[in-house]
Amino acid sequence: MIIAIDGPAGAGKSTIARRIAQHFGIAHLDTGSLYRAVALRALALGDAADSTIAVRAAHELDLSLLEDPRLRDDDVTAASSLVAAIPAVRQALLGFQRDFAHRPGGAVLDGRDIGTVVCPDADAKLFLTATPEARASRRSRELQGDAGGAIYQHVLADMKARDARDSVRQAAPLVAAADAIVIDTSTLDADAAFAAALAAIAGRIAVTKR
Ligand code: DC
Repeated sequence: MIIAIDGPAGAGKSTIARRIAQHFGIAHLDTGSLYRAVALRALALGDAADSTIAVRAAHELDLSLLEDPRLRDDDVTAASSLVAAIPAVRQALLGFQRDFAHRPGGAVLDGRDIGTVVCPDADAKLFLTATPEARASRRSRELQGDAGGAIYQHVLADMKARDARDSVRQAAPLVAAADAIVIDTSTLDADAAFAAALAAIAGRIAVTKR
């Protein structure tokens, strides 16, 4: 069973994907971390905005970087959205993601293009969304335990810029697959969002098996 979960940053994808994977006892891949690992390596090699360097970093993907504590740093976050816009970088990461998805028993993958490009054949596709304000307030609470603090405006502006870059790029832009179930998590807490996601997947799998 392959489950695809896409959506913008801060919509709750990774947390829900992890819980869904645990629920079904299958593997989980946060594909954003692959782009972050490429960005981290490209920054170490010189310049993540240089496509030759970024493509080289993608071909030399070092999976141990997925555990690197710098993966969530601001500079890596910004660079990951630059490298993700390069078609040859996306192409270089495709085989690994597809092999992961097609492992025995299946897997849950979360990202931006799982339902549209990586696993168009997924058994269930979810597109999680939320207002930029709800997503920024969650993120700033994670960062400093305060949804209304000074950091909020910075996070909101950063999130809108990243959304725009991820949505308008030519290569695999952030868009819901035609057959994805859209869930707006703006007003849902973590448990309610998980329950909604699980119900949607169960409904889709029941229909497929019919
Ligand atoms: O989900 P995230 O913030 O960790 O993703 C980091 C960057 O990678 C973000 O700019 C979107 C991009 N990304 C992508 O283009 N395709 C994916 N499947 C996953 C992430």
